[in-house]
Amino acid sequence: MSEAYRLVKNAPLDRHSTFHVPARAALLAEINNLTALPELLTLDETRDKPLLVLGDGSNVLFTQDFHGLVILIAAHGMEILEEDAASTRVHASAGDNWNELVHWTLARGLCGLENLSLIPGRVGAAPIQNIGAYGVELAETLATVEAYDRQIGEWVQLTREACDMSYRQSVFKRQPERWIITAVELILPRSAPLKLDYAGIREELTSMKVARPNAMDVSNAVSRLRRRKLPDPAVIGNAGSFFKNPVVSRLDAEKLQTAHPELPVFDAPDGKKLSAAWLIEACGWRGFREADAGVSDRHALVLVNHGKASGAQIWSLAQRIRDSVQEKFGIRLEPEPRIL
Ligand code: EPU
Repeated sequence: MSEAYRLVKNAPLDRHSTFHVPARAALLAEINNLTALPELLTLDETRDKPLLVLGDGSNVLFTQDFHGLVILIAAHGMEILEEDAASTRVHASAGDNWNELVHWTLARGLCGLENLSLIPGRVGAAPIQNIGAYGVELAETLATVEAYDRQIGEWVQLTREACDMSYRQSVFKRQPERWIITAVELILPRSAPLKLDYAGIREELTSMKVARPNAMDVSNAVSRLRRRKLPDPAVIGNAGSFFKNPVVSRLDAEKLQTAHPELPVFDAPDGKKLSAAWLIEACGWRGFREADAGVSDRHALVLVNHGKASGAQIWSLAQRIRDSVQEKFGIRLEPEPRIL
């Protein structure tokens, strides 16, 4: 066995997903030296097997054992590649913690990531679902993604355009087993207008007694809001929002709003985005619990594992929630995490 990676058979995955549900991987590889990736993928025991790359597992739900190869990428390293008076090109490795990257950039006087503070997970997972929060998406500052392309067997650098990102969507999500992301490059400005329009940010800054906020203040405000509104996966298993906010036509949104004037509706590039949390809460699910599978009492969009729930129990609850929203509102919710 090469020193660049460690291969374990029938490995437990409980610690490798933030839902903390029991599951096992037929093979688990922890890789320290990324140059060994092509070799790892062509071993007799790994070739042609289903593949899953895991960071902190903050966006997956295991409903059963995984019969293929799980790769954990341990590579770390943030650096400044180029800078001029206006902006800076930053390189970060797939294994870096996302929130640490946000703070690393803020400490160097760079802005653009402040609204994305405290999102759980690693840098390598960020482009997959184009992480977004408080009115900002990764796509706005992403320059390139470095990856190993299994289809052509080569290392590649994808431009932002090639990543084809939209709301919680990218080329990596559409072709889930093709690329193994190893690093990203971001272009971050030294100064840019702050984005304070998302509900709650201005109020939070006021309660922090900040009259003229800078990017660091916004990061602190977003972190305070997230800590208050979202359950901490280190305390109670969860994967953040379990469903995407559904995007519907303007006409359908109008009809729904006429019937339910309190339904929050937001503009989206191709229609209107509805609040999935509101739809779920309106079906009475907020705070629901059956055995150890439940819906957070802080936020109706977050499914939680109170302790010993299995992934199958959580998935079964998710399907009941989806069916009830479909029945009451005629809207089909789509899960946000990868269901395995
Ligand atoms: N709402 C309810 N009930 C609840 C919670 C919220 O009716 O239990 C209503 C609120 O009144 C509000 C609306 O839903 O008007 C939106 O709530 P919130 O601001 O919490 O945002 P969200 O649309 O539920 C999205 C992202 C979050 C992100 C927040 C903040 C998705 C699927 N989720 O949630 O991302 O943190 O906006 O920008 O887009 C994640 O992806 O895991 C995640 C947490």
